[in-house]
Amino acid sequence: MTQLIAALDVATAERAAELACLLAPQGAILKVGYEALYGYHDAIRASLRALRARIFVDAKLSDIPRTVTAGIRALVEPGVEIIDVHALGGLPMMRAAVEGAAERAAELTMERAPKVFAVTILTSLEAEELDEIGLGGRPEEHVLRLAALAQTAGCAGVVCSALEVPRIKAACGSAFEALCPGIRPAGADRGDQRRVVTPGGAVELGADYIVVGRPITAAPDPAAAARAILDELRAGAAPRLPERSADAR
Ligand code: C5P
Repeated sequence: MTQLIAALDVATAERAAELACLLAPQGAILKVGYEALYGYHDAIRASLRALRARIFVDAKLSDIPRTVTAGIRALVEPGVEIIDVHALGGLPMMRAAVEGAAERAAELTMERAPKVFAVTILTSLEAEELDEIGLGGRPEEHVLRLAALAQTAGCAGVVCSALEVPRIKAACGSAFEALCPGIRPAGADRGDQRRVVTPGGAVELGADYIVVGRPITAAPDPAAAARAILDELRAGAAPRLPERSADAR
């Protein structure tokens, strides 16, 4: 079943806590990203702990291995299920992140260490922008190469567009997970995202997690928007029933 991660991409701790109260009881994992980490991390940490929320820390770490180890150790705590790093930080850095997360979780006697995911190519980029930074070719080729490297490093999976999931699963195996931003319900504004897919489409393509921000945070009724997406995930995941035969009618 594809799981929903709702991004708490809002400017204040108060609004983030309000959204968390609406979305955690629906079963959404909550994503803490730059706004929260740099703006109000202590406050949102306390709110999420009180809610016993499941948390994805979207830290997108990228630095020398020692610094990434230190950074990830500071982020591991009960409730944190996923932390991400940039695959472009390289193999030793990704390995350091996986080891740092495991070591810190053991020190805290957590039942399970947070999964480390590697961001491959941001879903806001297309071939043209990749060319500008010297990564010519199709985004998918880079995503596949980086996914293989992330798997070698011991990462649980990668952050990618849902469009790339079938080829990643074919190359890395179905247990290697795909966490997919760039999700837009039909008719929603793409904003700065480019390689986009609908929630139902992401289910069909095999995404393990989808990350949704603005379609929920900017909706007049965020709880209803999340519910609609969860419904779409369930419908997308439902086995397709065979047509009833004429004599069964
Ligand atoms: O508002 P929207 O649905 O585009 O938000 C997507 C969220 O997923 C944002 O918080 C963004 O930072 C995050 N994200 C992403 N691409 C990645 C990793 C995380 O868009 N590769």
